[in-house]
Amino acid sequence: MTAVPVTIGRAPQAPADAAPADLGAGLVDTHGRVHRDMRISLTDRCSLRCTYCMPEQGNEWLARTSILSTDEIVEVAQTAAALGIRTFRLTGGEPLLRTDIVDVVRRVAAISGPDGPVEVAMTTNGIRLGEVLPDLIEAGLTRLNISIDTINREKFAALTRRDRLDDVLAGIAAAAASELTPLKLNAVAMRGVNDDELVDLVEFAMEVGAQLRFIEQMPLDSGHTWDRDAMVTREDILAALSERFGLEPVPGRGGAPAEKWRIDGGPHEVGVIASVTAPFCGACDRLRLTADGQFRNCLFSLTEYDVTTALRAMPADAAPSERSGVIAGILQACVHGKLPGHAINDPSFLQPARGMNAIGG
Ligand code: 5AD
Ligand code: SF4
Repeated sequence: MTAVPVTIGRAPQAPADAAPADLGAGLVDTHGRVHRDMRISLTDRCSLRCTYCMPEQGNEWLARTSILSTDEIVEVAQTAAALGIRTFRLTGGEPLLRTDIVDVVRRVAAISGPDGPVEVAMTTNGIRLGEVLPDLIEAGLTRLNISIDTINREKFAALTRRDRLDDVLAGIAAAAASELTPLKLNAVAMRGVNDDELVDLVEFAMEVGAQLRFIEQMPLDSGHTWDRDAMVTREDILAALSERFGLEPVPGRGGAPAEKWRIDGGPHEVGVIASVTAPFCGACDRLRLTADGQFRNCLFSLTEYDVTTALRAMPADAAPSERSGVIAGILQACVHGKLPGHAINDPSFLQPARGMNAIGG
């Protein structure tokens, strides 16, 4: 069966002639990139309303019936692992809002691919982490990224439209005290919001024993308010940090999105993810599965590959191998359609219709 690319916004750029499903073929795109990492969004809902991600009101949530069930997620992840995915990162929205989150972690962590057991990581806003972290670790979670853009209570409430900084700090404290290392904290750098706080954020991360990674803001907000001129760039971030710290580049980045610097001779490090001014698409090994079961080959892709409809259309007595073959065909079509890079810096760039909360961070 071939995949049916769903087009959002403009004509599909991916060829519709999906490669035939072959579990031995791996997930290599037409530019030679081997895909090892899959981000799985578990929900588009969130306990915060960050201004750069979601509008305060009027968000059109995904219909509950369109959200993949845990059985469906596990089935997709098993096939993806058989095709070479080694790390699954659970995202959202806010993944901890999924009521069966511990079960999802346990079942995904139990999957093995050709190279052994997979790794299960999570990106979360940290709220609820204090409560559920021991269960997540026991279920097999191995790595954690927590988003925190400001440690100032008023700014946090204004930016996220919720007064929940204390809950996030409790989540970070729980994570820092756990055996999950390295703990990474993500901060989107924004002019007039937290650009006066970059050094404070790094010092906070060092105090708790975490690694801070600054992210250049990308045009992914569902309110379409992104403004290139308002963006805090990699250069701006390095200039601000250099006033306070000695920074020495850490070699050996590999396919990682973050460039890293050693702070004042070490051992602490700080990272910058310069998706806009220094894109790293040439080394991208990531694929995404949205909460409603669409494969995406890029955050900025305008094409999605619908696995939900294909799976739900199959006869109830279809063999697991037949279902797996269908999933593999759709995933390989998605990989086959991957463009060399995003075009944020191109005048013809079109922002995807979905916001970050619906794509999966
Ligand atoms: N630009 C950059 N990063 C973003 N995130 C969410 N929206 C954007 C955006 N427009 C970040 C979150 C989180 C991760 C999942 O992605 O802050 O750290
Ligand atoms: Fe990968 Fe797309 Fe991000 Fe580039 S923009 S690194 S291709 S996900």
